[in-house]
Amino acid sequence: MEAGSSKLQNHRDFHEQLESLDDQPDNFSGNSTLDDVVEKSRRNFMKGGLGLAMAGFLAGCMGTTGQSHNGLGGSAAGNLRRADIGFKPIPIEQDPMFDAINVPEGYTASVFFSWGDPVEKGARPWRPDGSNSWREQMKQAGQNHDGIWFFPFADQPDDHGLLVMNHEYINPTLHPNGLTITENPQGFKQRPAHEVKKEMAAHGVSIIEVRKQSDGHWQQVKDSRYNRRITGFTPMDLTGEVAGTDFLKTVADPAGLEVLGTLNNCAMGVTPWGTYLTCEENWKNYFVNRDAEDYAQRPAHQRYGVAQDKNSKNYAWESVEPRFNATPDHHAPHGGYVNEPNRFGWVVEIDPFSPDSTPKKRTSMGRLVRECSTLSLGDDGRMAFYFGDDTRGEYVYKFVPDQAYKPGNPAANRDILDHGTLYVAVFHDDGRGEWRPLVFGHNGLTRRNGFTSQADVLVHARRAADILGATTMDRPEWVAVHPQTREVYVTLTNNKHRGQKEDQQTNAANPREDNRHGQIVRFTEANADPTATHFNWEMFLLAGDRPGATLADGSPVPEHFVGDIKGDIFSSPDGIWFDYQGRLWIQTDYGDDEERNSNMGTNQMLCCDPVTAEVKRFLTGPRGCEITGVTTTPDGKAMWVNIQHPAISFPASDGITRPRSSTVLITRDDGGVIGT
Ligand code: FEO
Ligand code: CA
Ligand code: CA
Repeated sequence: MEAGSSKLQNHRDFHEQLESLDDQPDNFSGNSTLDDVVEKSRRNFMKGGLGLAMAGFLAGCMGTTGQSHNGLGGSAAGNLRRADIGFKPIPIEQDPMFDAINVPEGYTASVFFSWGDPVEKGARPWRPDGSNSWREQMKQAGQNHDGIWFFPFADQPDDHGLLVMNHEYINPTLHPNGLTITENPQGFKQRPAHEVKKEMAAHGVSIIEVRKQSDGHWQQVKDSRYNRRITGFTPMDLTGEVAGTDFLKTVADPAGLEVLGTLNNCAMGVTPWGTYLTCEENWKNYFVNRDAEDYAQRPAHQRYGVAQDKNSKNYAWESVEPRFNATPDHHAPHGGYVNEPNRFGWVVEIDPFSPDSTPKKRTSMGRLVRECSTLSLGDDGRMAFYFGDDTRGEYVYKFVPDQAYKPGNPAANRDILDHGTLYVAVFHDDGRGEWRPLVFGHNGLTRRNGFTSQADVLVHARRAADILGATTMDRPEWVAVHPQTREVYVTLTNNKHRGQKEDQQTNAANPREDNRHGQIVRFTEANADPTATHFNWEMFLLAGDRPGATLADGSPVPEHFVGDIKGDIFSSPDGIWFDYQGRLWIQTDYGDDEERNSNMGTNQMLCCDPVTAEVKRFLTGPRGCEITGVTTTPDGKAMWVNIQHPAISFPASDGITRPRSSTVLITRDDGGVIGT
């Protein structure tokens, strides 16, 4: 076994290499000059009718605005209610070998669900030497837990539910001795088939039934019929505008209607009808197009950052699974697998209460490198889903379904996400904002600019957004919607290219050059209407050091790394979520060993009052991890948080056992509501 410190170094090397993939911008549009192109519950859920559970569930989604919203003009904060935040904040964690979790006095964090834990019936226990087979991994929890949601059962909403979470990618810890990579005589990377299959099996989603016992302890219900793994192999339907078009056809799926698996599932969303939306983020890193000439004229690959090289950027799966080689094969129907990358980058809708249901990739919502899909529901059932496209200099989007949500009418809600309008955001420097629709035939999305249909616009959503003059952002990650006011908060995690690249000059929403610490922007839709085409935005906070701070070596913190946080500081906001009572939870993802983060300690979760913007640190994680994904029961008394890619030996925390991404359960020792 490795000693803790060398494990930490290996872990850091691996994650630095993954992180470096983000250093390659995919946006070469030079966007600021393009402005002028623009011509001026479900069955179980519903068992008890619209009972308490539904009311509790919707409290988190549905606006209850009695407050006035003048939309354009006026301070957004004036409409917000102060959040009840009462815990004693904790300090940063600076121990270089810290391998546990800190929470405030009066709280307990306990490990609940880790990589390798049994999920489906017949699953084998996790083996600490990494020797579980790929078939065993198919039934066990995947790696790199990310977005998560608690779906309550109607009869006992605060005590019984389904916990659904994403598994974003894999670490070398998956295999006994890391990833085996060799090179063939032609210089192409080669991988053992059993490793690739295990890696595909460790991606995707876990669904587990959880229940509070009579002694107050939460447990996973073993052998539940709801327990399910969705992986890189799971068959999924392609639905919506692009389904069945030439863009999605491959030699293996000439109809363009079915795809195997979902990949790089990052953040998530929920629908009012009780389904889970998992979002495909850095899928581009799993594909390669070896034909430079083809690549140069194929924006579906180039504009999204698919590799043009010998191998894909991440794991060289193409050496085992031909569909990850997206080089055109002119002798095969539909060019072989040249369109396989077009079958990723979507929102995938999963019905956790129907364990036999087929997940659906909802193509009308557009193809992005998508972080999340966050609901805002209006009083009349009209709604929007907000997305960040997380690459440097990419955009913020929303999707507005044509139809309103109809409570108590599952048939009417089932395919709502197949019809609607995708919009991209423009953040004007004066605080106004507008949503520009990605609609074929309008505003330059025409044949003259190379678009042939609405399906074409959706597959090339980034390119369409370029033409619409969208505002380049500092890596948009999660979006949160206030449960009462519907104010929208977007984390812009960081962007070292801001102000350094010609096409990413500073602007009011992305004001700092070489932005290493990120910011949170918030906006109000006109009349608090999720379907509005105009909004008002403001800077909520700039993350970073305090004025006058010094780094570990005593040198002053450069001015552009100084933030304006009121309260406890942090860098690189990523996860963000409003709980049911309106507390804003912020989670971070930064390199905790980097010099510029020397005052930040390990990654954290903080709690923020949206009215005062005051921030209090609630949790600090083990070395090397990112904190991502948070959910609670409707009563707010049980919270689950994901600890992604810890570096040393968490959760065993013995310095020896290989580390495992884990969901931790947080409760208050007096049984009270978390955060109050
Ligand atoms: Fe998977 Fe952008 O974080
Ligand atoms: Ca993230
Ligand atoms: Ca991140």
